[in-house]
Amino acid sequence: MGNSGILTDIGVLATCSPAGGQSELNIIRDAAIVFVDARINWVGEAADLPDAHSGLPTFSAGGRTVIPGLVDCHTHLAFGGWRADEFQMRIEGRSYLDIAASGGGIQKTMGQTRLATHESLLQHCLEYTSRSVRLGVTAIECKTGYGLSFDDELKLLRVYAELKGKTALDVASTLLAAHVVPKINPDGTKCNKQNYIKMICERLIPTVAEEGLAEFNDIFVEQGAYTTEDARLILKTGEKHGLKAKLHVDQLGDGGGGKLAAELAAISADHLEYTSPEGIRAMANADVVAVCLPFASLYLNQPPMKARAFLDAGVDVAVATDFNPGSAPSYDLPLAMMLACTMSRMTPAEALKGATLNAAKAISREQEYGSIEIGKRANFVELSVPDVNHWMYHFQPNSCVRTWIGGNRIFDSID
Ligand code: NIG
Ligand code: FE
Repeated sequence: MGNSGILTDIGVLATCSPAGGQSELNIIRDAAIVFVDARINWVGEAADLPDAHSGLPTFSAGGRTVIPGLVDCHTHLAFGGWRADEFQMRIEGRSYLDIAASGGGIQKTMGQTRLATHESLLQHCLEYTSRSVRLGVTAIECKTGYGLSFDDELKLLRVYAELKGKTALDVASTLLAAHVVPKINPDGTKCNKQNYIKMICERLIPTVAEEGLAEFNDIFVEQGAYTTEDARLILKTGEKHGLKAKLHVDQLGDGGGGKLAAELAAISADHLEYTSPEGIRAMANADVVAVCLPFASLYLNQPPMKARAFLDAGVDVAVATDFNPGSAPSYDLPLAMMLACTMSRMTPAEALKGATLNAAKAISREQEYGSIEIGKRANFVELSVPDVNHWMYHFQPNSCVRTWIGGNRIFDSID
């Protein structure tokens, strides 16, 4: 039987099942997991393994800690070129917005991404997804946002569509055509904001929906990017075409992002460094997932998102990398989790549930994966650590020993 087996000798199993809220990992010690046809069939103490499964191939976790497969629910994976020069400029005192206004930032990456071929972007995505798997990542959300024209945004979504068939990770695609307004069109003419928004609403969103190229529609609401009015128009248009709303908000200042996300019933609102207490309450009432992105706060020298205020208000908080060539040039999700602990005051347990169950919720996959429960995909990770707290505390380059996706060992550093 393919994709079926028993993983036993698990020292600590953090199931991350929903009961008890974000701080409760629902741990089973000396555990085993039975999976049949890529899905979890039984989970419990190894001593209680039912006889019915005795014919299945058995694998030993060697006493290790096992967690659900990690989910990176916010990345800008497909991009051309890096921006190390801006890293230095910011350290020397120039601001992110100032660099962007003088031709750097997202516009610079847009230029290089437009020049990149489908094939080179696909190879880039395959390289980084395979690196992520080695860290325990089993699913990834991928945004566009560096094409910024009808053809180039579709090019990025087509790269993600092909990536889906070529990587073992689950890929969730997001249209982020409203990242910034491009300064120039691919034909060299100046781009007008109203025409660009019209193109997104009247041509791009309908085409993306018709071809099934994305599930989510995102927008960057910020000075130098888009307004809350633009967000209402673009995200409501997406909703009409079946694209669920996501938002980049309150990253560099309080733009009323929390309230806006609640009003638009967004599936997630991300960044949130400056969100007001009213915005946090509105998100709690509307059940919007708050996505904490510690790399962006760290690299842009912004105050970190106040995760405690969100958690105390009853908001589900997810943690993600925001992997991109500007504000967050790292795909290391466990490192982002550790920074969510130290910078945003999440406990290691909260950070783990944030990068598994709540991250799955941020991409509408919480019924599919994100916890080790019967019926879910057999996605889990073996870590060479005594427990979750120790993993975050004694941070090492890589504690992931094996990554299982759909009952297959996609990464195995032992065999
Ligand atoms: O999520 N906030 C806007 N967009 C990205 C940054 C993109 C870039 O700097 O290239 C972010 O941080
Ligand atoms: Fe982002």
